[in-house]
Amino acid sequence: MTQPVQISFTETAADRLATHEGRAALILGADGKLPGRLPRALREAATRALGSKAGKALKPGQALELAFPAGLRAEMLLLVNLPAGASVSDARRAGAAIGARLGGQHMLVMAGAHKRAGDIALGLALRGYDFDAYRSKRDDDENGDGNGATPQPRVTFMVKDPESLAKSAADAAALAEGVFFTRDLVNEPANVLTTTDFADRLLAMRELGLEVEVIEEKKLAKLGMRALLAVGQGSESPSKVVVMRWNGAGDQAPLALVGKGVVFDSGGISIKPAAGMEEMTMDMGGAGVVAGVMRTLALRRAKANVVGLVGLVENMPDGRAQRPGDIVKSMKGDTIEVINTDAEGRLVLADVLWYAQQEYKPAAVIDLATLTGAVIIALGHDNAGVFANDDALADGILSAARAEGEGAWRLPLGPSYDSLIKSRLADMKNTGGRAAGSITAAQFLQRFIAEGQPWAHIDIAGVTLPPSATDLAPKGATGWGVMTLDRLVRDRFEGK
Ligand code: BES
Ligand code: MN
Ligand code: ZN
Repeated sequence: MTQPVQISFTETAADRLATHEGRAALILGADGKLPGRLPRALREAATRALGSKAGKALKPGQALELAFPAGLRAEMLLLVNLPAGASVSDARRAGAAIGARLGGQHMLVMAGAHKRAGDIALGLALRGYDFDAYRSKRDDDENGDGNGATPQPRVTFMVKDPESLAKSAADAAALAEGVFFTRDLVNEPANVLTTTDFADRLLAMRELGLEVEVIEEKKLAKLGMRALLAVGQGSESPSKVVVMRWNGAGDQAPLALVGKGVVFDSGGISIKPAAGMEEMTMDMGGAGVVAGVMRTLALRRAKANVVGLVGLVENMPDGRAQRPGDIVKSMKGDTIEVINTDAEGRLVLADVLWYAQQEYKPAAVIDLATLTGAVIIALGHDNAGVFANDDALADGILSAARAEGEGAWRLPLGPSYDSLIKSRLADMKNTGGRAAGSITAAQFLQRFIAEGQPWAHIDIAGVTLPPSATDLAPKGATGWGVMTLDRLVRDRFEGK
């Protein structure tokens, strides 16, 4: 997997700045002023830069580039504006401004006594992500050696008290690794990330202390997961459910995380238009987030019980594929009329949600899915849609998302929406028409939630692979949700 950049923390040695080769960043002091003890030529150059129009316009979390700075051996110096009282998001954005300019070089960050050094480092690591597994030659041949080898950058933070940062730095590293795991899964093409390859990558997490079980088609059929199996029956890749368990809190009832893992969504017989279909390699994004969270929880040895379940299938048109008009029976026993084979995610989740509740009696269930295009129409790429039958759980998710700077917005459920999925022939149909498409999808899922079971559904179709770079991610997969769910576990499910 793509590894986060190695970040080490050492005590400040001001004289190292002048001799450092590579790139450097200065976190400007509380008042936007330069620190003492700078080479004189550099102080002059930096003062001019900060006095310029661009320098004066520098907002908290932003950086100004000085190329080949006077008095330094480094090829670039970043002047980073981050007032002492800056927010967590400002600090992460400041780090991201550095992370976007690593250029494969050794980066020296002079952070002084800034109390948000840990968040600067996290932002740097997250924005420094670069998925280059399939590039034989890099177009930006940064180290100028003319070949395609990607230079592995390094980062050294100079801070006042490196020891006191150790614990938060380790937790941040665990978080970054979880986010990277999710991003890699989402970025992988579907000819590589098949259901089998996905399951193998999850099995490999046993070495972190996770219990991982793969349930194959034969057993899925025995369990009665006919709705899930119907989605995958047109594919050459076998359908699977993978269960990951992290037991860090004795016999407490677990939090269950359920993810939609459609490794490719062609739409099936209700096939999608060609334009943009290549993006449907990201339709396993919910499963990717569940996997990334489980990885982070294991890496930081969380004191919580969490079970992650993912339904891995491929939705393809074929002679054996399910048809519009088919009626399938879910594990719960309810029958579903398949109006549109492209509304497949809810069929997968219906069975995995039911299984999660039957098998693990969870304290709460949260599912994540790139479920509907309609949520992009409603909320764009800035907010995930949150649905819940439990206000406390919804509030927990929304405040965790706010704390982590990930956009989330609650949308309603209600009986009148539910009536839109009544079927002429079966217990329900799998689409509710154009109106409120994300809500009718959520209503469908709610039919597979037992009475009294706290549950939330997060539709991440808009935030999983947005069309441009975000604050903390380059263009491509964001890993949206790993930070929010890790925060939720910390705040609501840990240390009780
Ligand atoms: N995977 C798609 C939803 C999606 C769309 C995710 C765009 C990411 C970006 C889902 O399976 C789907 O096809 N939903 C249909 C449902 C419809 C047929 C009721 C949709 O949103 O059009
Ligand atoms: Mn679909
Ligand atoms: Zn889909």
